[in-house]
Amino acid sequence: MRKKIVAGNWKMNLDLQEGVALAKELNEALAADKPNCDVVICTPFIHLASVAPVLDCNLIGLGAENCADKEKGAYTGEVSAKMVKSTGAQYVILGHSERREYYKETPEILKEKVLLALANGLKVIFCIGESLEEREANKQNEVVKAELEGSVFNLSAEDFAKIVIAYEPIWAIGTGKTATAEQAEEIHAYIRGCVAEKYGAEVAENTSILYGGSCKASNAPELFAKPDIDGGLIGGASLKCADFKGIIDAWKK
Ligand code: 13P
Repeated sequence: MRKKIVAGNWKMNLDLQEGVALAKELNEALAADKPNCDVVICTPFIHLASVAPVLDCNLIGLGAENCADKEKGAYTGEVSAKMVKSTGAQYVILGHSERREYYKETPEILKEKVLLALANGLKVIFCIGESLEEREANKQNEVVKAELEGSVFNLSAEDFAKIVIAYEPIWAIGTGKTATAEQAEEIHAYIRGCVAEKYGAEVAENTSILYGGSCKASNAPELFAKPDIDGGLIGGASLKCADFKGIIDAWKK
C-alpha cells in the first residue's frame, strides 16, 4: 500500500528562530493528536540542523528544498546531498517549478541531483507540472510525461521506489487558484499510468503522488478523497501550524 503524505515546503520564508518555533509547535500538536498520514517538513538549508533535533522522527520527517548537482568540491554557495543527509534530513524536494524557472534547472541537471540524492540515502519528492499556457493548449499530459522521462525514468525500479511524485500545476502555485479535484485526479491517474507503463502495475500502485498548488484545509478533503491523490505538497499553508494541521487532518475525514 502506498503512503499517504502531507509535506510542507517552506520556500524562502521564516528566519531560523521562527522556523524552529514552528517545528516545535507542529511536533507538539502532532504528538497530542497523531496524524493518519506521513508528515514531512522541507525547510531552508540553514534550518535543517536546528529543526532535526526538535522533531520526533516517528511523527515528522525532515527534508531540504534543493541540493547540489555536484558531489563535492569548489562550488561556492552550494549544498550537497551528503551535507543535507548529515543534518538528519531524510528527504529533498527536486524539480520544483520555481527552481526550473528562476534558477534554470534543466532536466539533465535534475537527473544528476536525483542520482546524488538517492546515492546519499535521501528520498526525493520530485515535482512536475505544466504552466497555464501549456494547460490552455491541452499539453499537460505530454509536459508531465516529458518531465518524468527527462529526470527520473532512467532509474532502476528499486531506486524509483524512493521517489515521491508531486504534481504541481504552475498556475495553481501561490495563486489561490486550485486545480479542481476532478482535474487533479485526471492527471494523477495519467501520471500513475506513465509509471505503470515504465515500471509495471505494482510499482505504480506503490508510488505516492501528491498534489500541490493552493492546497488548504478547506479543499484538501475533496482532493485527498480521490483515488490517485495520495496527499499534498503545501507551500503557503505550511507556514502556520494550525493551517498545516488542518490539511493533515483532512486524512481523518
Ligand atoms: P502553495 O501551496 O503556496 O500554492 O505552494 C505550493 C508549492 O509550490 C509547494 O511546493
